[in-house]
Amino acid sequence: MSIHGQARKVTTNTLQEMKSAGEKITMLTAYDFSLAKLVDKAGVDIILVGDSASNVMAGHATTVPITLDHMIYHAQCVERAVDRALIVVDMPFGSYQGNSTVALESAVRIMKESNGHSVKLEGGSEVVESVKRILTAGIPVMGHLGLTPQSIYKFGTYTVRAKEDEEAAKLISDAKLLEDAGCFAIVLEKIPRELAKKVSESISIPTIGIGAGPDCDGQVLVLHDLLGITMDFSPRFLRRYLNLSTDINNAIRQYCDDVRSGDFPSEDESYSE
Ligand code: KIV
Repeated sequence: MSIHGQARKVTTNTLQEMKSAGEKITMLTAYDFSLAKLVDKAGVDIILVGDSASNVMAGHATTVPITLDHMIYHAQCVERAVDRALIVVDMPFGSYQGNSTVALESAVRIMKESNGHSVKLEGGSEVVESVKRILTAGIPVMGHLGLTPQSIYKFGTYTVRAKEDEEAAKLISDAKLLEDAGCFAIVLEKIPRELAKKVSESISIPTIGIGAGPDCDGQVLVLHDLLGITMDFSPRFLRRYLNLSTDINNAIRQYCDDVRSGDFPSEDESYSE
């Protein structure tokens, strides 16, 4: 049964049901209260408090610098706004790699301090021990394969991943590994559509694509890209639904003109004794 238009909360079970029913899953990022409220009200299934906040909110060139404290702050803001969507919070670089005890501590902090509903972390076999350890605490985990922006300094570019057979084979086996470990879904970022289709058909948990073609079980975009706020980023996979950077610029220029000319505030916009 479709859950669109109903207030019923989205859970990891809902997502599994949607995959089984062939119903596409929608996911968008949000990092603050006001936009998270709009995203939730519009009926998006999953809100990702992405570590892309490092770029979009803080202006860093990569996702590497954002901290666990920053992610928790953004997740707290989003959580206050959301009634329906499942909230996924990205675990930032350095908070889970290499040591599953640290990973569990980081995930527990996110859950306790932000009231988010689940966490996401990047990588396959390299992080599977951390995934398993987090899951032992009952914290739902979303995986992330393909282009993994936290590893930018290892790969050197943001180009399409897993075009070569060896990397594609590793991605397929990583997806299976994450499914077997107990992840509830996996983001597939910037990989060939044929590979994304193969992975989506070979695992029973939902795949959420970004630059991974139409055959994933759902799609995710960065909200600020979709709204046309971030205009210096135009990958092939991005569809802009608005050109807000122009609209916002025009509105602010108009405001400045109105203040400078004395048109604002008017009589109606002023209080009298
Ligand atoms: O941080 C983020 O916005 C993400 C998406 C690109 C999937 O991880």
